[in-house]
Amino acid sequence: MTRGKFITFEGGEGAGKSTQVALLAERLRAAGLATVITREPGGTPLGESIRALVLDAEPEHVTELLLFAAARAEHVAKVIRPALAHGTWVVSDRFVDSTRVYQGVLGGVSSALIAAVEAGSVAPTFPDLTVILDIPAGEGQRRTEARGALSRFDAADADYHERLRQAFRDIARAEPQRCLVIDGTLKPDAIADHVWRAVEQRLLAGAR
Ligand code: TYD
Repeated sequence: MTRGKFITFEGGEGAGKSTQVALLAERLRAAGLATVITREPGGTPLGESIRALVLDAEPEHVTELLLFAAARAEHVAKVIRPALAHGTWVVSDRFVDSTRVYQGVLGGVSSALIAAVEAGSVAPTFPDLTVILDIPAGEGQRRTEARGALSRFDAADADYHERLRQAFRDIARAEPQRCLVIDGTLKPDAIADHVWRAVEQRLLAGAR
């Protein structure tokens, strides 16, 4: 059986990831491809419990790294790998790049520790395609404020949001074959069209 493909969406708060996850899954299913939607932190019952713990408390950055990694290890082993092995496509709202950016670049956890944790909990199940939705710092904050539910990750200052944006762009620059940066200020349908073109060119061309 052909392995499914693994696609992740990344970006700052208010970038429109969940909308795009849903729109992509719709198109994949319309193309006859079995698709599951998932998210991080979360993705499994244990992962959802860890999500509630981490988002409520204010743990040390290294504690956060290890809790997110524990949730991810379960997510990869129990949801993502089995689905891919069955030929199902997996679309995840956030994955390892969020850890590299939030705990690594912004939290100051060493890249050596982050790489070691990835090697033990994720490898070799890295995404086939990562879509980074790029929006200016102020725009993301405006959108999350309008939504009314600020998490502690949302409530940081403009400098923090700008560093976050740069960190995602740096990942895309370092791994262009995996990553695609899309202007998140475009209309949702236009973004979805960009994503679909990339899926056709990068993933479907070889799979069919
Ligand atoms: P969530 O409410 O899902 O926010 P969003 O809608 O922006 O995705 O909260 C997830 C928060 O957790 C988000 O601000 C980023 C953070 N996070 C990390 O710090 N590290 C990680 O590995 C992951 C997956 C998320």
